[in-house]
Amino acid sequence: MNAPALEGLRLNVPDHVKHARLVSWVAEIAALTEARDVYWCDGSTEEYDRLCAQLVTAGTFKRLNPELRPNSYLALSDPGDVARVEDRTFICTPSRDDAGPTNHWMDPAVMRGILQTGQPDGTPALFKGSMRGRTMYVVPFSMGPLGSPIAHIGVELSDSPYVAVNMKIMTRMGRKVLDVLGADGHFVPCVHTVGAPLVDGQKDVSWPCNKTKYIVHYPDTQEIWSYGSGYGGNALLGKKCFALRIASTMGREQGWLAEHMLVLGVTSPTGVKRHVAAAFPSACGKTNFAMLIPPAGLDGWKVTTIGDDIAWIKPGTDGRLYAINPEAGYFGVAPGTNEKTNPNCMASLKRDVIFTNVALTDDGDVWWEGMTDTPPAHLIDWQGKDWTPAVAKETGAKAAHPNARFTVAAIHNPALDAEWDNPAGVPIDAFIFGGRRSTTVPLVTEARNWVEGVYMAATMGSETTAAAAGQQGVVRRDPFAMLPFMGYNMSDYFSHWLKLGEKLKASGAALPKIYCVNWFRKGEDGKFVWPGYGENMRVLQWMLGRIEGTAGGQENLFGVSPRYGDLQWKGLDFSPQQFDTVSAVDAAAWTTELDSHTELFQQLALRLPAELPATQKQLRERLAALA
Ligand code: OXD
Ligand code: MN
Repeated sequence: MNAPALEGLRLNVPDHVKHARLVSWVAEIAALTEARDVYWCDGSTEEYDRLCAQLVTAGTFKRLNPELRPNSYLALSDPGDVARVEDRTFICTPSRDDAGPTNHWMDPAVMRGILQTGQPDGTPALFKGSMRGRTMYVVPFSMGPLGSPIAHIGVELSDSPYVAVNMKIMTRMGRKVLDVLGADGHFVPCVHTVGAPLVDGQKDVSWPCNKTKYIVHYPDTQEIWSYGSGYGGNALLGKKCFALRIASTMGREQGWLAEHMLVLGVTSPTGVKRHVAAAFPSACGKTNFAMLIPPAGLDGWKVTTIGDDIAWIKPGTDGRLYAINPEAGYFGVAPGTNEKTNPNCMASLKRDVIFTNVALTDDGDVWWEGMTDTPPAHLIDWQGKDWTPAVAKETGAKAAHPNARFTVAAIHNPALDAEWDNPAGVPIDAFIFGGRRSTTVPLVTEARNWVEGVYMAATMGSETTAAAAGQQGVVRRDPFAMLPFMGYNMSDYFSHWLKLGEKLKASGAALPKIYCVNWFRKGEDGKFVWPGYGENMRVLQWMLGRIEGTAGGQENLFGVSPRYGDLQWKGLDFSPQQFDTVSAVDAAAWTTELDSHTELFQQLALRLPAELPATQKQLRERLAALA
């Protein structure tokens, strides 16, 4: 511990903290970062309100009109800090091969030099003095129901009160977690700084951050270090960093799965309830699917939400897979959300919300593209500038950033599943994998077996979105929708899935069925053909029919798909021709598609399980036969 740096700094350890290792780690990080002060979050409502009021005074938050949006706030970020930074995200394992070719890797010792200890050429460590002039918040949180055998605890040390209040919504956070931790419980240490120290009374900005960014994971010691960003996916370390990247490595060791999946319950008109976990890349509609309202014509069906982004899935003693949502809130994409696309989400956002980078209306409420057909006549846009529809038409300026977000507690969701907080989780009957593809991939296909399903998931492609910084709309392979979130070698992860399938099969229980979907095929006019949203219930209903053995289908190139007559069309005007546009399997397009799978397999050649190229060979043979 650096004694001079701690001089005058009080650690303010509350009496109820009994964990000596936690206290000494807090002292060590306070000394390294030279935080001005240390504050231990208790997770109370009083604390949340106080920190929000403080954020209002600091100019980070604007309180929204309490009559229109009670207890809600708007934050506008720095324009350079609006999304996850995948190219600045690192997995630091002793061997490069353990991180694998899809991750950015750095030798842990070199990374520790950059972040913590200083570099051989004398460059000081980034975290050294990084919290000067700021309070360090100690944020204890549980991913998963408190005290559940499936849950894991983390402690985030952050110099951002924005992080502290968001963590209160997104996790089970505060004193109750320290009570569960006791004197020597295990926790994942997470250190976060916005990287903007304040010297000698320097005035703060409303969204402190740093152009230099590092989002760093040490899976071997289960540590997370995040530098320079206040954006959710980079700064709320319980989410992507812990619940996916670190947890995926825990799952590999312990025989379970940490997945980028929503989990929903679906109940039939006769009262049969099933559970489905679905992986889609960021900003491809997981929240909408998890909160789906069945359309007219499918009366009596009901969808309920267990989670909208992350699932921890463990084999039960009965050989089935059980899923929990490790989170307690939703950090969702606002643009495109409206009363038609997701009424349950709109209802969830009525109060107690933190909005980030949406637009402000003249009466103190929020607006984003797609919220209403007609935009308000005047807004303050996400960069704090005047915005009118006329000017936007000319310049293309968006009122809300395309990756603008809301943070809201799960308990506000009217479609919340009664079991969402059940420590035992819910049994999974089907996995769905879906990318955003304007062409090639049909509306829905059922894998004929587990290996074929793993192949579908492993080779999934999707057009990139605004959730990550970088070029948008380009197809990239996004295996299992986990490309940005894998904590270890992707080929080892494929093997982990294959081995799990073997293990489940050996137990004699029915394996979940695996489906590949694509809601995003476009017609020649460039418009989406499938209506999506609530109408996706028709596809879900077909899947459940397949599970029950009542729905028909026909074999196509890589699985079984419904014929027009196998889906329920009551209440929707969708012609057989339109169905063909979203379902057809084009041999030429699939030749190119399989070639791009080959490129992925070449990239992942080291440790790639043989089952995947073997499955591809069968697909090529089927394709040749089709042609
Ligand atoms: C998210 C993401 O925020 O996937 O959930 O980017
Ligand atoms: Mn996500």
